[in-house]
Amino acid sequence: MTVESPSQASVIPSRKIIVAIDGPAGAGKSTIARHLARHFGLLNLETGAMYRAFALKALRAGLSLDESAGLESLSAKTTIHLAPGEGENRVFLDGEDVTRQLRNSEVTDAASRVSVFPAVRAWMVCLQQELGAKGGVVMEGRDIGTVVFPNADVKIFLDAAPEVRGMRRFEQMGARSSTEPMRQPEEVIRELRERDQRDRSRADSPLRAAADAMLLDSTGMTLEEVLRAAEKIVEEKLASRA
Ligand code: DC
Repeated sequence: MTVESPSQASVIPSRKIIVAIDGPAGAGKSTIARHLARHFGLLNLETGAMYRAFALKALRAGLSLDESAGLESLSAKTTIHLAPGEGENRVFLDGEDVTRQLRNSEVTDAASRVSVFPAVRAWMVCLQQELGAKGGVVMEGRDIGTVVFPNADVKIFLDAAPEVRGMRRFEQMGARSSTEPMRQPEEVIRELRERDQRDRSRADSPLRAAADAMLLDSTGMTLEEVLRAAEKIVEEKLASRA
């Protein structure tokens, strides 16, 4: 797939714009966010990578992932920095580039577990609000349109049927040729459902669409169709602001 550089963008937005993209795992948020960032000349910030980096630190420290106090004190001794680039963000944990260590199943599961705790979320939300404060960003996650930037200019809630999302994740894992043993698609779909359940049912900032989010269900759509639909949503919002 080819994507345009910012100079080819059909709309040149103010640098202040904030685009929030939320949705469950495997819905295609990162691909869409990356594309919108390039197309509209914005910075792309992946908040899931921040939860993943913190989960990696908790795992390395041997902390219980089900106990808030230890995680809260760990957070006070942690710095997480995102460096937006052409592809995925580079993620620095206490100054160490951990980008390549964040996508295995252990960290994926741990990120979902540590993210249920209000103290961890409050800390993350502050970091994310600081990162996006100047605007000019596409920020993707689970609670961007509801909690981090409830006044975002554009909110998209991206979804797809669990089987479709699971199969996409399975194919990505193959493409990444990870060092982990090859998984069966059913196993990937089951884990994704478990993670969905935890993300949607946690008491603090559960995954849900903001009341004013545009819903985009990519089940049955090609990637190209989803990209065009997302572009159109942003363009229409910008036109209505002008
Ligand atoms: O988007 P991701 O799969 O990289 O996110 C990893 C985990 O982090 C996910 O299970 C839920 C959590 N998360 C969150 O609670 N809030 C966010 N804004 C982003 C991610």
